[in-house]
Amino acid sequence: MRPHVMLSVAVSIDGYIDDAGPERLLLSNAADFDRVDALRADSDAILIGAETLRRDNPRLLVNSADRRLRRVAAGKPEYPVRVIVTAGGDLDPDLRFWHSGGERLVYTTDSGATRIGDRLAGLAEVVSLGAAIEFDALLDDLGKRGLERLMVEGGGSIHTALLSAGLADEVWMAVAPVVVGDPAAPRFLGPAAFPGGPHHRMQLADVGRVGDIALLRYLPKEDSDVG
Ligand SMILES: NC(=O)c1ccc[n+]([C@@H]2O[C@H](COP(=O)([O-])OP(=O)(O)OC[C@H]3O[C@@H](n4cnc5c(N)ncnc54)[C@H](OP(=O)(O)O)[C@@H]3O)[C@@H](O)[C@H]2O)c1
Repeated sequence: MRPHVMLSVAVSIDGYIDDAGPERLLLSNAADFDRVDALRADSDAILIGAETLRRDNPRLLVNSADRRLRRVAAGKPEYPVRVIVTAGGDLDPDLRFWHSGGERLVYTTDSGATRIGDRLAGLAEVVSLGAAIEFDALLDDLGKRGLERLMVEGGGSIHTALLSAGLADEVWMAVAPVVVGDPAAPRFLGPAAFPGGPHHRMQLADVGRVGDIALLRYLPKEDSDVG
């Protein structure tokens, strides 16, 4: 019933997903952003954490008109459902995310839902998962909606929560030839108890190159082919 969960991330070679400055650090190149657009177009839903929404103000759209047309021709909505996760409910209804694309869902807690109140009325469906965010319950709810492929675009806290809970099926990692070198910057993954710990070697399913970007695809639930 749960969707297939694909984590998508761009990292510097020292594992950071942004710098510590106010502007988002662009790690992908143009061709890699287009690859991400294709992954979005193949997904039924795209999820990000509320901190990424607040900091980066993304729209999370499928930018290619051709890909949107192909989705519609296949009987899908023009845009994937876009999903925000927030515990506290601090969401600004003026962000451009709420004013573009198609269906939007917000998963939150009971207290988060109280804080949101009617601020997102007409902009998103708000779903409370109870006292805390439980990602297995969140995935169950997406599955009940018939959503089969979920793309998760960060940030690090959300990736950490899903991977440590054993809920990620795939990781697409684009490694940019950049060094951030600032401990105040966010990383792909934070400290957590990951399934199998450091002794679990996940399967490396694909290696590719997109211009100056190295592209790696891992299957975290599978063991490495080469021990
Ligand atoms: N390079 C990339 O591929 C990429 C992609 C996306 C983002 N980023 C960067 O990532 C940074 C933001 O990452 P982040 O780790 O600070 O934030 P995040 O993962 O985007 O969002 C974290 C927020 O998610 C909500 N949340 C609810 N339950 C949670 C749980 N169990 N675990 C974790 N979060 C939960 C909380 O929202 P509330 O605070 O509202 O309760 C929490 O503050 C930004 O700098 C952004 O630019 C980089």
